[in-house]
Amino acid sequence: MTAPWWQNGVIYQIYPRSFQDTNGDGIGDLRGIERRLDDLVSLGVDAIWISPIYPSPMVDFGYDVADYCAIDPRFGTLADFDDVLMQAHRRGLKVLLDFVPNHTSDQHPWFVESRASRQNQKRDWYIWHDAAADGGPPNNWISDFGDSAWEWDETTGQYYYHAFLKEQPDLNWRHPAVRAAMYDVMRFWFDRGVDGFRIDVLWHMVKAADFPNNPPNPAYRPEMGEMHRLLQLHSTDQPEVHRIAAEMRDIADGYGARGQGERVLIGEIYLPVDRLMHYYGGERPEVHLPFNFQLIDTPWQARALAAVITSYEAALPLGGWPNWVLGNHDRPRVAAKRGQAQARVAAVLLLTLRGTPTLYYGDELGLSDVMIEASQVRDPRELREPGLALGRDPVRTPMPWDDSENAGFTTAHPWLPLNADWPTRNVARMSEEPQSILTLYRRLLALRRNRRALSIGNFVLLNVDDEMLVYERRHGSERLIVALNLGAQSHRLPLPDWGRGSRVLLSTVADAALVEDGALLLGSNEAVVLEAG
Ligand code: NOJ
Repeated sequence: MTAPWWQNGVIYQIYPRSFQDTNGDGIGDLRGIERRLDDLVSLGVDAIWISPIYPSPMVDFGYDVADYCAIDPRFGTLADFDDVLMQAHRRGLKVLLDFVPNHTSDQHPWFVESRASRQNQKRDWYIWHDAAADGGPPNNWISDFGDSAWEWDETTGQYYYHAFLKEQPDLNWRHPAVRAAMYDVMRFWFDRGVDGFRIDVLWHMVKAADFPNNPPNPAYRPEMGEMHRLLQLHSTDQPEVHRIAAEMRDIADGYGARGQGERVLIGEIYLPVDRLMHYYGGERPEVHLPFNFQLIDTPWQARALAAVITSYEAALPLGGWPNWVLGNHDRPRVAAKRGQAQARVAAVLLLTLRGTPTLYYGDELGLSDVMIEASQVRDPRELREPGLALGRDPVRTPMPWDDSENAGFTTAHPWLPLNADWPTRNVARMSEEPQSILTLYRRLLALRRNRRALSIGNFVLLNVDDEMLVYERRHGSERLIVALNLGAQSHRLPLPDWGRGSRVLLSTVADAALVEDGALLLGSNEAVVLEAG
């Protein structure tokens, strides 16, 4: 049986503001994405997920949507989008959009109506509540960006709830008309041919109906950001969200069932693994891939990683397909967290674990977090809680393509600064360098495409110690060994009998790894893929 594309393929996240500008405004656009499709094909990915491109006041850079069925003029037009889709499909690339169902912009016509009067027929499309007895907010819930999650509306004399900025009011998903309208949005894009959605903050979508206070978080430290003062026990991950996820899945599956191509749903969910697993569905299937963010936060040590991998594998429900993520537009970059040498090891890990990998644009260049001066800060997260290193601008900087003006990203002033090392850390230059991390990514992606064991094979942990993590990937007669050295010492690792005659298919370090007398000699910070001979 052949695996569906979303199981053996690799997803590449594009942050559209920062990918490629073509109209000279310092902001990336859809034509820019179209122009770079061949680069993505030559990189070797299978699908792109584009962060929001809908009309938006951009208070949260597109995660505040003012119209779900159109394109923001900064990014282009619907016709441009159709072109991107057609050109991507021509090249065999799938296209996923970002679906932001939990909240709209406060400029969305639905909210404009909702706040117009208490009698408005869209009043209950959002979450309105009377003040507490003392006139304050209805409960203690805190916005993810700090401060109360309730905003007082003078005109109608009630509070509305916003899990993020006050400019991002939460929709009331308990209302059938909201569900129907949002399901129509999904159909609008599916009918145009999009291959799936990444669903923003899926676990936030339903809140406890009686709005109880959230309990304090005993592990809270101020540097975590104010939202962590409380545990989001009642404001997220409510049982009713699963019905919604199942209804979304029904819509997606309808297309496959009608022979119109399998569509995929990926849920953004930051929850412990046991809770995360529920989003695969129970009696009814839910999202295909609840994002697994564990590699971002796990200490970069062999034993810790092995524990995460094996416990995640063990927790998967029957038929649940795994997935792995190293970075995204909200979290520090892998190169910043792990350093350049280990960013290469991380690339091997991401692309050789069982499950669908999602690669964040720029990570294939080893792009690090870019220092943003106070005067250049754009991210509302940083502006609201400055100095805690919670800001996301450093990971959203322009893609450096070549060594021409502004790294080929724009002819204008880029909306965020480029990485200082762009004259050398850019796609054109690194494509020429046999030892660059970009070349490593290309080789890994090609290897993954050629060896089914790497994408859909079984995973077996072979060995773990203080610095080494070694596993097998197996599919039919294809047996591969992946060995990662997370430390600065070199190691000699005896290979299992069946692997004694292995040969090195790929290494992160030039000419270092060696198989000799049935043992693998692995250099410091080196990761290798071996094929049993
Ligand atoms: C999650 C998105 O990834 C993040 O960028 C955004 O700020 C919040 N959701 C609110 O939409």
